[in-house]
This record gives sequence, C-alpha cells and structure tokens, in this order.
Amino acid sequence: MSLWTSKNILAPMVRCGTLPLRLLALRYGADTVYSEEIVDKRLVKCRRVENSRLGTIDFVIGQGGNTQLVFRTQRSQEQGKCVFQIGTATPDLAVQAARVVAGDVDGLDVNMGCPKHFSVHSGMGVALTRDSERACSIIRALRASLDIPVSCKIRLLDTVDETIKLVRALEAAGAQAIGVHARTANERPKDPVHWDQLKQIVDAVSVPIIVNGNVWGPSEAVEVRQLSGCSSVMSARGALKNLRVCFERDINVAQKETASAESSRASLMRVVQDYVKVCIDYDNHGKNTKYVVQYMLKMNSMLGGEFGKSVSSGQCKTLEDIATVCGLQEYYATVQQNRPSAADERKSNRGDGSDGGNGKNCTLKPSRVYEDDFFYARPSKRIKIARNPDQTLPPDFRQLLLTWGESQNKFPRRQQVPQYQHIGRVKAYTVGIPGVAETSNQEAYRAAVLIGGKRFVGGWGTSKTVAVARAAHVALLELGVDIPNP
Ligand SMILES: Cc1cc2nc3c(=O)[nH]c(=O)nc-3n(C[C@H](O)[C@H](O)[C@H](O)COP(=O)(O)O)c2cc1C
Repeated sequence: MSLWTSKNILAPMVRCGTLPLRLLALRYGADTVYSEEIVDKRLVKCRRVENSRLGTIDFVIGQGGNTQLVFRTQRSQEQGKCVFQIGTATPDLAVQAARVVAGDVDGLDVNMGCPKHFSVHSGMGVALTRDSERACSIIRALRASLDIPVSCKIRLLDTVDETIKLVRALEAAGAQAIGVHARTANERPKDPVHWDQLKQIVDAVSVPIIVNGNVWGPSEAVEVRQLSGCSSVMSARGALKNLRVCFERDINVAQKETASAESSRASLMRVVQDYVKVCIDYDNHGKNTKYVVQYMLKMNSMLGGEFGKSVSSGQCKTLEDIATVCGLQEYYATVQQNRPSAADERKSNRGDGSDGGNGKNCTLKPSRVYEDDFFYARPSKRIKIARNPDQTLPPDFRQLLLTWGESQNKFPRRQQVPQYQHIGRVKAYTVGIPGVAETSNQEAYRAAVLIGGKRFVGGWGTSKTVAVARAAHVALLELGVDIPNP
C-alpha cells in the first residue's frame, strides 16, 4: 500500500488535523496525512461542495450563513496522500458515512484507539478493540463497499499476546494497514511508550504496522524502525511541537534547529508563520487557527511569553487578528485582494448558494468550536449582544436540551428532564485549556448530564456554568439534535 509503506505520517488529531496543518506537513516532508476524526453520524449529514474560490472540496452541514465546515481537502496537493479517519461503532453507519467522502480521499481509517468517554460509551474508539468481532465486521463492511484502502488505528491491549490476536483478526478482516499507538487505553500521553512490544506485533502480520507514540522527529523515527522493523511511523504531538523538525529526514538538520532553547523558539516561530500563511491561503476559521497556534506554543512552553499572550488575548479572534499578531497583515491583505469575492463565487457556484458565503470573506465556520465563550454567555451579555447585530450569540445549549427532552414523550417524565452532575475539578492548565498558563491557578470543571436514560459527559470548561453547557452540547450532538449556529 503506497499510503502506508515506509512512510512518515501525520497522525489524526481532532481540531488540529484540518487542511492547513496537513498541507504544511506535506510541504515539510510528511508522506501521508490523516484528517481529524469525524464521527459517522455527523459525516452522513454532510454534503459535498466544490469550492472554486479556494480550489478545495468542502464537506459541509447547514445552509447559507449557517454553513459549518466539517472537512476540507485540496486535492492537487493531497492526492494520493490523505487518509480520512472516522469514528464509528457499527458497520452500516460506517459504510454510509465513508461513502460521503470516499471519492475525495485516498484511504479510510477507523479510529479504534480513542479512550475518551465520549467515544467509548457509544461503542467507538477503544471499545472496538475490546469487541474484536464488531471491529472486524466494520473493516469487512468497509472493504466490501469502498474502492479506497482501509486501515485502522488501535492502542496496545494489556498483553502482547492479546494485541497480536487483535492485529491478526483485523488483518484477516481486510485491514490494509494498522496504526499502533504504543500505549494501552489507560495510559496517558506522559506515560512511557512500550516500543519493546512492537517487534512481535510487526512480525505477527504482513500488513504494514504504523508505529505511533513519542515519535518526535527523525532520530526517534530511525530508532523505532530499527527496534521494531516497522514500516511506517506516525507523529501527533511531535508535529504540533515543531512540524518542520518532526518531518525533517536529516537528523543533523533537526538537531541544529533544536540545538538550544533560542534556536527552538526561533524555529517554532517560523513554523507558526508558515502555518498562519496556509490558514490565510485556505480561509481557515480564526478560532481553529488560534487553537492550533496556541497548541503549538503550549507544546513549547511559550504560551506565557509575549507572543503567546498576544495570540491568547481576547482581542485576537479572527484570522486577520492572528495574521496581524504574526506580522502577516500584508500577506493577508494581498491574498484577500487576489481572491474572487464571495459574490463572484456564488455566481459561479451552480447557483446552489452552498459555498457558505457568510459575509465578507466567506470563511466557513469550523464544525467544532470549543472555547468557553461558545458555550455560555451571561444573560446580561445575551441582552447586549442581541442589540448588536455585528456580534453573534452562543446557542443556549441547556435550553435546547430541555426543549428536546420535553418533546420526547417516549421517555418516562423523569428521563425527559436533563439532570446535571458536576464530576470533575482540576487546575485548568493540566487539561490543556488554551490560553491558561501552567503557572495559573485557574480551575477547570467538568459536568455530565443524564437524559433519555443515557449519560453524556462534557469537556472541561473554566466555570461550572460552562461545564454544564458543554455537557448539554455533547448530549445534543450525540442525540443528533440540530443546533443553530452561533
Ligand atoms: C490534539 C490531539 C488530538 C488527537 N486526536 C485524535 C484523533 O482524532 N484520532 C486518533 O486516532 N487519535 C487522536 N489523537 C491521538 C494521536 O493520534 C496519537 O495517537 C497520540 O497523541 C500518541 O502519539 P504522539 O506520542 O505522537 O502524540 C490526538 C492527539 C492529540 C495530541
């Protein structure tokens, strides 16, 4: 398989693996790039739009100004190199979802390694490796229905023998490559990886094993290849730490870039500039761009520095703001000037208006917007915003869930009413809330909601109210309730 044999691969990363990071990774030397995971239920709602203005194929949900971008690919640069990752729990829905994108990507990967509650409780992610029959039935169904190759990404099981049994079963079901994150489901990124188990796994199957876990750059890539005999390596956090170094082939060049704290910082700043330029080229949403830049800075302990503070500031919101902070305002202006206007684009867009033109620069809203201000606005702020047509009001997720529950007569009354529980409280920086420095005492909270006999857990938020709104948001997404755009 040319996607997975002797390749250096950009790992799937939720919110980070959008088009700009993938394109820049390819420019810096990555051979294959994975999309972020998109859950099947969301993918089946997408429609395909040829975006002639940007030269991309977009998969979007919603109409007109409410269009949300779920996946964007630039075929001339990604052709033969782009693997789309889905989150799924059942063969039927997996096939239905995969068919939506299969004509515009080069391979399809099933995420069997996500340990997060959100995935596992709906039978996705690592839940599949605990039920190998179901995992294999998904692979079989995808192989039988798609013309593109199919892979999956797993974590280690508790013993090497169990992992070997699983990879053999997946191979027999038709998986054409298997990514192995060399940690178990209970291990966190800071825990050591088990590279020592990989040789046995690689030797047990004939399909390429893609080794993942602590491959930060060329020296680890060489080391783990020697140790395991694996075909390909895959990097996630290494790519966010320094994308250029991560995919550099020459160990000496990589070492030079990171020889001192100063050269590392300078190297990262060049990567950030290149990244923001690609974001400008492809009209990436400001919030997504900001998130990824903050992640890159966080990986280098640079969020608390002058540049990190400017990016994290509440004033830095739009792509133009980020371009300005990065000294790229001229680049931004030139790209905007040379691009056909949204109106021209609509004219040439077969009249379906589906290119998401929502104002001046036609930037589509990202499918996931996770910052706290998306989840909650105080009533006083709501009133203020409602008077100002230039600002947008976040949806009231609690109210939406309450209304949905009230309409569900099939449930007993007590299951129609959302019941919230606070389930976690930690220092905010430990859970990676963007913009929170490691020295900060700010706390983060997490909540769950019970409704319709199911429990949904939200992400971390910087107040209890935001945590509750986040839980409601997860419930709405998983229940497939339409959410008006903010
Ligand atoms: C920001 C971020 C998002 C991630 N999203 C996904 C995802 O969508 N699908 C997936 O299979 N793994 C995801 N992962 C896990 C990585 O792909 C990878 O398995 C893990 O980080 C270990 O690799 P590393 O040591 O190179 O970081 C994510 C990791 C990070 C840091």
